[in-house]
Amino acid sequence: MLYKRPIGTQDIIPDTVGEWRYVEEAFRSLADRYGYGEVRTPIFEDTDLFLRSVGKETDLGSKEMYTFEDRGQRSLTLRAEGTAPAVRAYLENHLDKTDKERVVKLCYLAPIFRYDRPQAGRYRQHHQCGIEAIGSSDPALDAEVVSFAWNFYAAMGLTGIKVLLNSVGCPVCAPGYVLKLQETMKTSLDTLCEDCQRRYTENPLRMLDCKVCREPMQAAPRLVNELCEECDGHLDQVRRVLDALDVPFEMDYNIVRGLDYYTKTAFEFQIQGIGAQSALGGGGRYDKLVEKCGGHPTPGVGLGMGIERILLARQNAGLSAAPTARHGVFVVALGDAAWLESLKLVQELRLAGVRADADYRRRSMKAQLRFADNESFAQAVILGENEIASGILGLKNLENGEQVEVPRAELLERLTP
Ligand code: HAM
Repeated sequence: MLYKRPIGTQDIIPDTVGEWRYVEEAFRSLADRYGYGEVRTPIFEDTDLFLRSVGKETDLGSKEMYTFEDRGQRSLTLRAEGTAPAVRAYLENHLDKTDKERVVKLCYLAPIFRYDRPQAGRYRQHHQCGIEAIGSSDPALDAEVVSFAWNFYAAMGLTGIKVLLNSVGCPVCAPGYVLKLQETMKTSLDTLCEDCQRRYTENPLRMLDCKVCREPMQAAPRLVNELCEECDGHLDQVRRVLDALDVPFEMDYNIVRGLDYYTKTAFEFQIQGIGAQSALGGGGRYDKLVEKCGGHPTPGVGLGMGIERILLARQNAGLSAAPTARHGVFVVALGDAAWLESLKLVQELRLAGVRADADYRRRSMKAQLRFADNESFAQAVILGENEIASGILGLKNLENGEQVEVPRAELLERLTP
């Protein structure tokens, strides 16, 4: 019986891991330069943490979570998104208590689990790199988060990205808007899709970004016209700083995001060619979330970027991380007597920091050299009975085929770096 990986998941194998590492390392490096420290949270959390933060009525909260009961009858959920766990860790580890004035900046690279219909660019286990800045309501921080993603995508070589910006208001102005929206759409409810008819009562804002109902939703009032003075001023400032940071953005009044915790700024990055959905990344402000998770009122803003979608976009653009240059030494053992010696030498080289290997199939010299070449070793050491007796080894450059004799004691210093 051959097992298959679960639907909507992917294996990352040595052939593909180079691209993943490239993206991950670039993310860690940029996060470090922006002052975001890495958090690693458990792969499962209390189910209620997600329900309270993301919202029970959202797609994620109502039908996409991987929820299970453990043997102690606790309801747990596989990480459904990265923000709530980061906020939970921020509170549980008292990151807020060390310095009340400080903006706590956190970043993560983590697998995320969502039970959705898999398709190109949409998985049941995907990975996000994300940043969260907790502790300031300054619109400049919203702009920093947006510019972080903009600069990260540029570092990934991606072009043609749209930055879509909106404000979803706050508890002062959003509820009034929702009533107005429901009032306007009441008469044309039967022209909306089945999902939106449900959203009309359960999560009315989500009708705005429904791809099916674009036409009837054109009649909807604009939330941006109903913002309170504070939200309006905040949005203006975010725009001003984004202009100053040279981040080209467009206002898109239908960007409402799928999670309940957003207040004020909401944004999305889109690119063509990554499957039916075009969101490369997205995020926004969540000024009520820390409070909802049991902390003191503390504003925050953050962003999540899907790694698989970055990889797809890079593939579409014909981009790939440079292959690793030839490096390391392959020890070619000739005959039984040399075999044990070769293993000792391989270990010695590895412990000295050199990539080294031997042939565990004990093939001919020709076959071993061909293998070493295919595996991108830079050099090969030839070790037979004569070499052991004389203490002089053959050192072959696998790129140009040149071979020199090297005393064993000098081997390490004669290796190409
Ligand atoms: P999200 O929009 O649900 O936001 O996900 C962020 C990104 O993860 C998406 O833009 C997309 O690139 C990727 N993504 C989401 N679902 C899938 C999937 N099923 N398959 C492949 N990629 C996917 C959040 O999760 C928020 N926590 C972001 C955030 C951080 N907001 C504030 N801070």
